[in-house]
Amino acid sequence: MLDKKVVKLLNEQVNAEFYSAYLYLDFANYYADEGLDGFQNWYNIQAQEERDHALLFIQYLQNNGESVTLEAIDKPDKKLTKLDTPLKEAFKHEQLVTSLIHTIYEAAVKVKDYRTMQFLDWFVKEQGEEEKNADDMVKKFELFGSDPKGLYALNEELGGRAYSAPSLVLD
Ligand code: FEO
Repeated sequence: MLDKKVVKLLNEQVNAEFYSAYLYLDFANYYADEGLDGFQNWYNIQAQEERDHALLFIQYLQNNGESVTLEAIDKPDKKLTKLDTPLKEAFKHEQLVTSLIHTIYEAAVKVKDYRTMQFLDWFVKEQGEEEKNADDMVKKFELFGSDPKGLYALNEELGGRAYSAPSLVLD
């Protein structure tokens, strides 16, 4: 049986991951409206990954005999005014998600819940990658985004992103 506080935080993380998926779908839709299908593709795949994260938290809770409570998902309310707004917002959002994962980790450490710590290790590493990817997007846009040819090339590059299932598999 898991500690109550840890369970509560894991349940909240299910919601946070679905919110992330919703946020990135919103970004994908924004880029669709702007005619940037590569950026749209990148964020659609990002949304799929976030849904995968949510499902992993659900499965972990269920594997430990805990119930899952699905709460309402907030409406994405970022004002997308410029082409690089989603990129900057995504970077900030990933930093926030990292802090949420760390909070769960700290709660698990407190009650010597080694199983949850091991589960979360994958997410700690994943967040490092997610923050780097988001930061790279901001930097690339700063370098190439204001030039039409650069923006075209960047859109092509992002259009090449393909979905891959998470490397973490829970039995
Ligand atoms: Fe589920 Fe982007 O972290």
